[in-house]
Formats: sequence, structure tokens, C-alpha cells
Amino acid sequence: MKYIGLVCSMILFLSCLNDKNTPLANLPITVDSTTVIIPSVPAVNCSPDTVYFQQSVLPLITSNCAMSGCHDAISHKEGVNLTDYTNIRKEVSASNPTSSELYKCLNETGDERMPPAPSAEFSLTQKSLLLKWIQQGAKNNTCSNTATCDTVNVTFSASVLPVLKTYCVGCHSSASPSAGIDLSTYAAVKVYAANGRLMGSITHAIGYKPMPSSTSKLGACEINQIKAWVTKGTLNN
Ligand code: HEC
Repeated sequence: MKYIGLVCSMILFLSCLNDKNTPLANLPITVDSTTVIIPSVPAVNCSPDTVYFQQSVLPLITSNCAMSGCHDAISHKEGVNLTDYTNIRKEVSASNPTSSELYKCLNETGDERMPPAPSAEFSLTQKSLLLKWIQQGAKNNTCSNTATCDTVNVTFSASVLPVLKTYCVGCHSSASPSAGIDLSTYAAVKVYAANGRLMGSITHAIGYKPMPSSTSKLGACEINQIKAWVTKGTLNN
């Protein structure tokens, strides 16, 4: 009973906060009875010059490094857990960006390179994104775009593939496809768009495994853009 009371007052408390338009980013969210404090940084409008941890760095790292057997909380290979800001930050030296483990390991050779073969090496764009985030102070920053979401001019190359590369291809690459699912090329993605599993998994529909499995649901804009691309006939544009 005591707990029910507590939960009710939490709900009341949270709804009061919401009435005052408190950014959701500041509220504690209860997941599986563990309280996760979402960063208490105010969400700002996204600036093209800033690399945001929550939008760009975290999805890139969780989808490429924090899979089961690698750097998830349970496996934490070599003692390295890359599932959240606090743990990721331990692998970063903001005063010496290029010496940060998180960055250095991307450029090693042989078994030392991360992610290791058969996973592909990070692209130059992905490497420079990480480095820029470290150079900008490796902050736990977040932003939200107030601009409207364009679901009219959607293309595979500009709207769909970049999202898949950030959030999915770490696990669903052609070299090591989780569950046998490759999401790195148009031909392969088209198959899962056609059989409904792509939309089912990213919208967390009943009967599908919720994806991405290592991090939170894609943003509403990304989901709507992928949906628009599917509805318009999954063109190779
Ligand atoms: C951390 C690794 C990881 C990431 C990141 C990831 N997946 Fe998966 N995915 C898996 C695994 C493992 C399975 C098999 C799940 C199972 O059977 O329990 C799977 C299954 C799937 C399935 C089949 C689901 C079904 O119920 O039929 C689809 C579709 C899929 N993933 C798409 C995606 C998409 C799209 C993304 C990015 C938005 C993504 N995945 C990100 C690991 C991942």
C-alpha cells in the first residue's frame, strides 16, 4: 500500500511538472524498478556546429559497441561498459581528445581495432563526429529540433540510410548480421520494409522485437520519415 501511495504521488508530481512544460529530459523515469535520471540538461535547439551526445554519440556507440557479448552492461568486455554517458565518459579524456581510448581504439590495427572484424571499421564521418564531440568537451548534451519534420521529401539515401547506419547497422551489418538481418544496403532493407518487420520493430508493435535493442526508441520524426518512405513505395532514391 505504501508503494501504491508513493507511485500515485510520483504520478501527481510528474503531471504537475508537465503542466508547467518542464522539459521531459529532466524527469526521472522508472524502468524495471530502476530509476534512471535522464540528463538534467535543458534541451536546446539543435545547432549544426555542435555534436550532441544524446542524438548522435550515444546511438552510434550503443549500436556498434554495446551489443551482447561486447560492451553491454552484462558482458562489459575488458571491463568496458558503453551503455550510458557515465560509463562512456570514463573512456574519454576531454583534455587530450586524440588520446581518448574511445577514439584511439577506432584507429588501431588487428584485434585491437574497435569494433573488431568482421564488423566494419568506423567511417571517417563517424570517427570525426566522435572526435568533435570529445573536442567540444565530451558533454552529456541534448537538443530538440523545433523545426517541423519533413515527411514529404523523403529519400532512401538522405532520410532512411543515415538513420539505419547510426542506430542499426552496428548489429545488422552485412559482415555480422544479428538474427541474419542485414540493414546496410537498399536491397536488403527493402526486404524488411516489404515484410513489415522494419516498421513493426521500430514502432515497437506487438509481435515484433523492439528495435534498436540496445537503446531507446527512434525519435518520432525518424520513424515518420521511414514510414513515409515505405508508404511511397520503398524507392531506391
Ligand atoms: C545491439 C544490437 C542491435 C541493434 C542496435 C539493432 N538490432 Fe535489430 N536485432 C538484434 C537482434 C539480436 C535481433 C534478434 C532479436 C531476437 O530474436 O531476440 C534483432 C532483430 C531485428 C528484427 C527482426 C524483428 C522481428 O521481430 O522480426 C528487425 C526487423 C530488426 N532487428 C531491425 C532493427 C532496426 C531497424 C534497428 C535500428 C533502428 C536495429 N534492429 C537495431 C540486434 C540489434
